Amino acid sequence: MKTDLTSTEIREIFQQFFEQKDHLRIAAAPLVPKNDPTILYTVAGMAPLKPYFVGEKKPPRPDLVNVQPCIRTKDIDDVGDRHHLTLFEMLGSWSIGHYFKERAVELAYELLIDRFGFPPERLYVSVYAGNPDIDLPADERTARAWEKVGIPRDRIVFLGEDNFWGPAGDVGPCGPCTEVFFDTGEAYGPAYVPGGELDTKGRYIEIWNAGVFMELNKLADGSFAKLPFSSVDTGSGLERMALILGGFDNVYETDLLAPLVAAIGSGLGKDSSLRDRRVIADHIRAATFILAEDVVPGNEGRAYIPRRLIRKCVAISTRAGARDLDYPGLLGLVVDKLSPAYPHLAEKQASLTAAFVREKEDFERVIGRGLDRLESLCGKPGFVVSGEDAFSLFATYGLPVDIVRDVVAERGGSVDDAGFDSELARHQEVSRAPKAQDATSTWATAAAFSAVGDLSTEFVGYEHTETEARILAVIKDGRAAADAGAGDTVEVICDRTPFYAEGGGQIGDKGRLIAGDAEVAIDDTVKVGGFHVHRGHVVRGSIAPGQTCELVVDDSRRRLIMANHSATHILHAALRQVLGTHVRQAGSLVEVDRLRFDFEHPSRVAPEQLAEIERLVNAEIQRNHVRETVVTTYDDAVSRGALAFFGENYGDEVRMVRFGGFSTELCGGTHVHATGDIGAFRIASEQSVASGVRRIVALTGPAAVAYTLEQDALIRELSTKLKTSPTELSARVTALMDRPKAKAKAAAVKADVDVASEARKSATGISYVAVRMDGGAPELRAEALRLADKLGGVACLVGEDQGVVRMVVAVAKAVTGNIKAPAVLRDLLPLVGGKGGGQPHLAQGGGPDLAGIAAALERVPAAVDSASA
Ligand code: SER
Repeated sequence: MKTDLTSTEIREIFQQFFEQKDHLRIAAAPLVPKNDPTILYTVAGMAPLKPYFVGEKKPPRPDLVNVQPCIRTKDIDDVGDRHHLTLFEMLGSWSIGHYFKERAVELAYELLIDRFGFPPERLYVSVYAGNPDIDLPADERTARAWEKVGIPRDRIVFLGEDNFWGPAGDVGPCGPCTEVFFDTGEAYGPAYVPGGELDTKGRYIEIWNAGVFMELNKLADGSFAKLPFSSVDTGSGLERMALILGGFDNVYETDLLAPLVAAIGSGLGKDSSLRDRRVIADHIRAATFILAEDVVPGNEGRAYIPRRLIRKCVAISTRAGARDLDYPGLLGLVVDKLSPAYPHLAEKQASLTAAFVREKEDFERVIGRGLDRLESLCGKPGFVVSGEDAFSLFATYGLPVDIVRDVVAERGGSVDDAGFDSELARHQEVSRAPKAQDATSTWATAAAFSAVGDLSTEFVGYEHTETEARILAVIKDGRAAADAGAGDTVEVICDRTPFYAEGGGQIGDKGRLIAGDAEVAIDDTVKVGGFHVHRGHVVRGSIAPGQTCELVVDDSRRRLIMANHSATHILHAALRQVLGTHVRQAGSLVEVDRLRFDFEHPSRVAPEQLAEIERLVNAEIQRNHVRETVVTTYDDAVSRGALAFFGENYGDEVRMVRFGGFSTELCGGTHVHATGDIGAFRIASEQSVASGVRRIVALTGPAAVAYTLEQDALIRELSTKLKTSPTELSARVTALMDRPKAKAKAAAVKADVDVASEARKSATGISYVAVRMDGGAPELRAEALRLADKLGGVACLVGEDQGVVRMVVAVAKAVTGNIKAPAVLRDLLPLVGGKGGGQPHLAQGGGPDLAGIAAALERVPAAVDSASA
């Protein structure tokens, strides 16, 4: 089949069709999921809607439609074939607790045949074959629905686990599904024979998962609970739809990708492989979307995905000898193509390009060495690269393992994949297992719990720090419990709470739960789905679901946190004012005793700029702006100048927090009543955390005052130690730092003074030397005595010591009858503005005028003359 539909038209036809059938068009969610620790990125259109399916939140309307960018890395090794992509746009429609199988099939058929114009005879469908282990029969009901609309039995295929979809992540809603396949024709393989196998890898391409029939909720222990109601979840990859509707061979020929692949082809050169061009095209698209959400490439979890994508591109272009492939230009092509549908890409073009280039340049520094090392591991055909070596290429040089495999295969060798996998698993276990486990069980518990009813926790903590509430659930060891007694570690969920749950960088509240005689110490509060989960231990008595309790937040602790959170907003605004509007929040942590703010900025923040920022923030604190909080729509907030970030998932309602005209941000955190409550603000440090990302740690209120006093005490202590005043401290330290140099010089002077040739004789016949020597009094004294002795005359040493002038005059005992050291010294001292005195054979002094040293040395002959006259 061949139509002229563009990708833009396909998006619209899909969404308009469902809108005409009473579905509400909803916005796409960010790729970085919010409140769902079970997945790194949004993997399906349904993922951000999980709370609707489990009944934890009510959808704005039961039937919904949208187009959702998704990232799937599971099939990353298949990228480059006809239709696998890392980033794809999913056309999705949903019925949440409303219509079910028959209606879903009717709508699917009508859209495919009547709107898109598919020839019915080229469509095949699959339905679930059933699984007695989980008590699910073959999905005869859906098969009959397909027959009814016009798909004959012999094109309906019953499939096993391929037709059980989900969950997205380890736990959550899932169910049997029905998929529609298009027959791409004889050129792609033999025809399906009823009862035989449907070749879904070649000839028959899946164009639409026309319905996951969600009835089950998979729990953390692997078992399934029934969902409170049944839903339909459909999803179709836009790129595949465009491939089929346009009559192309593969997704790279569609308008979504063709120009990009062509540009990459001309950059890589005509000998480059088609697969390499396609992989770069795919990876660049995915990286564009991920970087647009401010994910900073790194080595773990979510951050590793963009790193891997970018490194793979760079490895390919480097090996193809195209190191200067125009990546910014290619990213520009992606942005141009997709920003009409996703405007945030254009807004973030500069920063995402910068992030891509930084990662590329970082990798270019090591890739050469990695490829050399890999080269050295290649032997005669048939060689095997061990898992350990492959892992070290990956861990030390950052070489993606598939690049390693490609190179090794070209040389006729192979990689011990199992060995690599076990090395990787070992590494991951060490570095992150506990966290993931923790997150999964909490989510699972609350998800399972929410399935019981349409419940969530009402948060009253913006206005109150104490409230009465009802205990909804008591969780022990990740499972709902009937009660908990003294000593038990528990998680408690209530119908309402003043406890802020960790989120938006702000840490969770601590406090107490009192129920009659029972008390629970709450050590932390986290958000799981729609619930605030209070974590702590029972101090005395026992608690049980259904009880009424008093929830009391540790108020003084919360006040300190609020001061730090509000100061974070003001700091952010100040940074943008002083450094420029390119500054964007890259991460924030608001704690009791400090705040930590990471932001995009290419270079070190100069000390003068830091001082200016501190001054600005304190000025805004002193203005005592009363906070304004407005709950409004996202668009309204942004049009009023609120700082908002696409990476954040803002719901239909947003909270806009404003301090005077200085700072306006969308924020769900808790804040001071007026900026004066912050008290004071000090920056404790500024440093780099990643390329292009800086970190400021700052203090507010009592912590800022304590910090200032400590710094002050330190300065005074140092001044005392160095025998100077705080204002002179810096000059003194400079001099001290120069001292090792001075010592070296002094040593040289010592060796250099050749008494025999430098000694002069005064008119009165006394031998003397005048020598510049820097250093402390003891060294000068010793040296002066030595020289005087050697000469049998007078030695005058003048030099610098810790920022002041030091002067020593020694007279050999034999001549003290003719000349006295203090007399010589007195003549010289005025030249350096100093004072001093001593014995006939040894006098010393000093003064502040370093500039007088030369003059003093020049005056020595006259001084000796007059003192011996
Ligand atoms: N969740 C299903 C899928 O991803 C249908 O949207 O295929």
